[in-house]
Amino acid sequence: MALIAPSILTADWLDLRGALRAASTADIFHLDVMDGHFVPNLTFGPPLVAAVCAETALPVECHLMVERPGDLLGRYAEAGARRLIVHAEATPHLHRLVEEIHRLGAEAGVALNPGSPLALVEEVAGDIELLLVMTVDPGFGGQSLLTSQLRKIREARTRFPDLAIEADGGINAQNAGDVAAAGAGILVTGSSVFARDSNPAERIAQLRAASGR
Ligand code: DX5
Ligand code: ZN
Repeated sequence: MALIAPSILTADWLDLRGALRAASTADIFHLDVMDGHFVPNLTFGPPLVAAVCAETALPVECHLMVERPGDLLGRYAEAGARRLIVHAEATPHLHRLVEEIHRLGAEAGVALNPGSPLALVEEVAGDIELLLVMTVDPGFGGQSLLTSQLRKIREARTRFPDLAIEADGGINAQNAGDVAAAGAGILVTGSSVFARDSNPAERIAQLRAASGR
């Protein structure tokens, strides 16, 4: 069965404490940091990450959808993020960023947009803990899964057998089995856990069960 990483992007931000508690049966919390430049949306900074880290016992990862990740790594590590995920498309110095993340004491993840080939990560694949394959174009929750990315997940599973592979975007109980079968061991999911009037614990259990089929 896959690990489940709820994204709080689509949670009720006016009751974030309640959302974290309702989803506390998950494995990881996934925080989508957006700077309004790398993606056309703006979300939250280190203070909110610190508040989430103080509120939950689960590991917190920051998905940094930002233009200058190197400028921000220290602040998100200091806020308590266990894993920092940077986009390969956001830097010409990916190896240096990975080393900096490790120097800060966090796990290093690299994310690839749907239009980016696995080749962008092959030189650092042996140095990182996680590869995040975007299954939507980044910037917003509630989008539909791009099934074209399942091939990329399958190829990554074959080429990088020791690497944790995470899929992010448009994942629900109907497609979680396909995404996990392709090779994703961690499923990021926002709107299918925090949908209005949903029971996050039930949704998480459904996703886990669906991923194990
Ligand atoms: C999109 C984010 C995803 C998104 C997932 O840019 O990286 O983590 O919030 O939300 P859903 O599951 O609604 O696609
Ligand atoms: Zn994300």
